[in-house]
Amino acid sequence: MLDSTSFFAFILGFLILALTMKRKETKKTVLLPEILRRNKPVFRWIHSHMEELNTDIACIRLANTHVIPVTSPRIAQEILKKQDSIFASRPLTVGTEYCSRQYLTVAVVPQGEQWKKMRRVVASHVTSQKSFKLMLKKRAEEADNLVRGNGFEVIDTRFVVRQYSGNVARKMMFGVRHFGKGSEDGYGPGFEEIEHVDSLFTVLTHLYAFALSDYVPWLRFLDLEGYEKVVSSAMRNISKYNDPFVDERLMQWRDGKMKEPQDFLDMFILAKDADGKPALSEEEIKAQVTELMLATVDNPSNAAEWAMAEMINEPSIMQKAVEEIDRVVGKDRFVLESDLQKLNYVKACVKEAFRLHPVAPFNLPHMSTADAVVDGYFIPKGSHVLISRMGIGRNPNVWDKPLKFNPERHLGNNKNVDLNDQDLNLISFSAGRRGCLGSSIGSAMTYMLLARLIQGFTWSPVPGECKIDISESKSDIFMAKPLHAIASPHLVPQVYPT
Ligand code: HEM
Repeated sequence: MLDSTSFFAFILGFLILALTMKRKETKKTVLLPEILRRNKPVFRWIHSHMEELNTDIACIRLANTHVIPVTSPRIAQEILKKQDSIFASRPLTVGTEYCSRQYLTVAVVPQGEQWKKMRRVVASHVTSQKSFKLMLKKRAEEADNLVRGNGFEVIDTRFVVRQYSGNVARKMMFGVRHFGKGSEDGYGPGFEEIEHVDSLFTVLTHLYAFALSDYVPWLRFLDLEGYEKVVSSAMRNISKYNDPFVDERLMQWRDGKMKEPQDFLDMFILAKDADGKPALSEEEIKAQVTELMLATVDNPSNAAEWAMAEMINEPSIMQKAVEEIDRVVGKDRFVLESDLQKLNYVKACVKEAFRLHPVAPFNLPHMSTADAVVDGYFIPKGSHVLISRMGIGRNPNVWDKPLKFNPERHLGNNKNVDLNDQDLNLISFSAGRRGCLGSSIGSAMTYMLLARLIQGFTWSPVPGECKIDISESKSDIFMAKPLHAIASPHLVPQVYPT
């Protein structure tokens, strides 16, 4: 399979990187041989060109589409806050068509009636403060399952944090953590959960993957990069587990076997429109269930994995976080969500992971529905604006020593640390009418995940390695090698759930 940049070059002959400098316009033509020689993933190619040209905004013409990457908080604010109404749509891609069952959901759907309806239902029934509180018990159960067992062993931390996120997602959605029997001891995942979580991640990495046919739709039938095959197969895996749950629950409500809503799925089923009729069709429920699972699993697990790796390599940071938990919570019980308010240092570690190691290089794309001028740059209607989470979080004009993991930078005047950044100096939950609907759940999940891992265990690199290898994958920005580390119990045995 060819790299997608090479495809663009191959099909279009050449690419134009048109950089509209304020009040004067320069164009740089990047020729086919240059692109082929570099042969990088598209996001790295875009960022390295922007760095070379010393710009925070660029315009890359891919076939007829203007793609506008942005790496400055000031320009991001203008797009996501001041001119939000113009930039609130989403482009269509092969990946999003599959994951949303042809655009029945909220997150990947273009601006319009369907998006409005689904956003209203999700916001009022699922991600409201009331539901957040209702789901506390389910999140707490998973936080306990995370620290079950107190052995001294090498942990595949990526596997653990991804399975934790999958478990929380399934618990909140369906009220269960396992589709099947789970592992032999009954606590770990069985092959069903492993396949489910792996498939969610496969879909996530293909949603906005710069597939050639996202820009040249008539080429779609060729599926040149093979993305369509991969996404459709991963979606079949996910649906194979999710859909029977939805079917069964619908039946239970119809048969009067259910009385009170227990989880998000019940809330979707019970949601009513203005005439008191069910707000969502069966197909919409199935689509939205999957989309919320996608939205739940990746950010918390990625942030926790990176934070752990950085903190194992910098024992003084780990020490401060552990001391804070020991001081606030003590050593005879595990941290609870109600403690989080007092765990500013731990929260700053999470925030630093979000800044330096976001789960994806770009925010979900925003598409403009009218011509606009942003910070003096003309942006034509239909442009795809890619706010760079990576570029903003690592922008040297915004952050001192941006590549250093330094949680202290978020502590400021001792105010309560919050993953949301009003000034968009880092993009965590974004802002505006497309802003994240799950910030309370996402924050609680990520804080608890990191807090429990560092409270429950003392961590060190595996024998033979004195440091964790924290290099970044070339093709995405996950850790190149999944984090493996030794965990030994930090608390007395009686504290660990059995
Ligand atoms: C730490 C965890 C999370 C992070 C960092 C995060 C971040 C984001 C970001 C960056 C966006 C795109 C915003 C934009 O387009 O400008 C988004 C959208 C969204 N998120 Fe989250 N998210 C998290 C967890 C969740 C959870 C747990 C849920 C729900 C259970 C959720 C539901 C949504 C929805 C529905 C959207 C789409 C909003 C729209 O397009 O109208 N997210 N999230």
